[in-house]
Parts: sequence; C-alpha cells; structure tokens
Amino acid sequence: MFDFIHITDLHILPAGETNYGLDPAERLRMAVRSIAERHGPGSAAPAAFVIATGDLTHHGQPEAYAQLREILEGLPLPFHLMLGNHDERDHFRAAFPDQGVDEDGFVQQAIETEAGLFLLLDTKTPGTHAGALCEKRLAWLAARLAESEGAVFLFLHHPPMPVGIVQMDRIQMMHAAELAAVLAPHQPRIRHMFHGHLHRPLAGSWRGIPFSSIRGTAHQVALDLSERGTVPGSHEPAAYALVRVSDDAVIVHSHDYLDQSGPFDL
Ligand SMILES: [Fe+2]
Repeated sequence: MFDFIHITDLHILPAGETNYGLDPAERLRMAVRSIAERHGPGSAAPAAFVIATGDLTHHGQPEAYAQLREILEGLPLPFHLMLGNHDERDHFRAAFPDQGVDEDGFVQQAIETEAGLFLLLDTKTPGTHAGALCEKRLAWLAARLAESEGAVFLFLHHPPMPVGIVQMDRIQMMHAAELAAVLAPHQPRIRHMFHGHLHRPLAGSWRGIPFSSIRGTAHQVALDLSERGTVPGSHEPAAYALVRVSDDAVIVHSHDYLDQSGPFDL
C-alpha cells in the first residue's frame, strides 16, 4: 500500500486578509494540523507526501506565497506544489525555489514512488482562467511517458472535460484532444488522474481514465447546473483526500477536516 494526501484550491491571501467571509490561511492551518495528526510520521496511517493541485493563492502576490510557505512549514511531510489559474508562476518560483520545474520553467515534475510514476502538470496560462497544455508541456509529458514503464498517476489543476457547471466549464483545460493523444498509447498503465479547479468532490472517468477531485481548503463551488452568469460559490465543508494505492485499487477517501464530531462506536 502507498498512501498520500491530495489537497487543492488553497486560495491563500497575504496574512490577515479574508475572502468570501472566511480566512483561507486558518482553513489551511487546520488542514495541516489534521494531516499531521492523522497521517504524519508515527500516526496510524502515515502518508508519503502531500500534493496540492493548484490555486495555491488567490491573487498570486509574493506576500501570499510567503504566507503559504509559513503555513506549510508546519507539515511533517514532504509537499509537492502545483499551479492553478489564480497563481503567478514567477512569484511562486521565487518563493519556492526548491519545488520542481521542467527545463522550460513550467512547474512540472516527475516523482518516482513505490506506487508508480507521479506526473505533475502545469496548466497555468497567463491572461485567462482557463487551462492550457502547450506543445512544450505536452512534449515534456510525452517524453516522461516514453521513458517510463509501469503505473502512472497524473495530476493537473484544470480538468480536461466539462462537468456541467456552466461558468467552470468555460475555463476548463483547453487542450483535451491534444492531451488525450499524448496519453492514448499509454492508457492501460494510467491508473488515475487527480485534478482541482472545481472546488467539489468529483469522480468519474474521462476517455477511460479514472479521475477524482475534492473540495478546496477554502471556499467551494456549489452544485448548480443552471445557465447562471457567475460561478456559483458555496460554503460547503472544506476537505482533503487520503489516497491509498494498492496493486489492484486506488481508493480516494475525502475527509471533511473541519468536522469535530469525531468517530463513535456503532
Ligand atoms: Fe480554485
């Protein structure tokens, strides 16, 4: 078994600022405390690392990345950070020079694990909230797939498919067909795709590839499939996921870490 934590859409602001009536820094601190307690070294279910699938900050200011860094230093686990549409690549790289980037400066990295190869993609495109995978980023992905064997786990902020939430579908990942073409020769060994962006618990399959996402650690997106002109926000509970990979299964446990009711005997 191989366990890791998936968190997404942290939307951190500079210290002291709030958003939609909540403090994203406090929400993330609570997630860090929960992860440390439940999945840190020496816990009942220790995780290998934490992967954050983008929208690390809300406006991408250096002060927001500084705040993020200070909070994440409380994690007793390694963490791998990815970009979302709300992030700023240069400010992120200045604040986190230790995080992996590819030869073109995109925040993409390949992580070898005992469960297989984890490929973290960068779908950030300046000037739009939609996601993109340009030729350079797709070539990096194709090369990593070509040089590897065995199980692959994909991570990207923007999902490559519409989900029915109108204003979010308008800012999905724009190059779905191009991504599918790169993945197609390797599809039997692509075990799962993890994404963020939707701020919702989601699971299904895309072109035969299983996928999942979870709520963010700050504000959420409501399940509203009407033709409204704005993204429907909500204050549903924040969550992170414990992902357990075994030889024949990928299990995604969503955990509402703000809930303090605790387990009781049934
Ligand atoms: Fe987001």
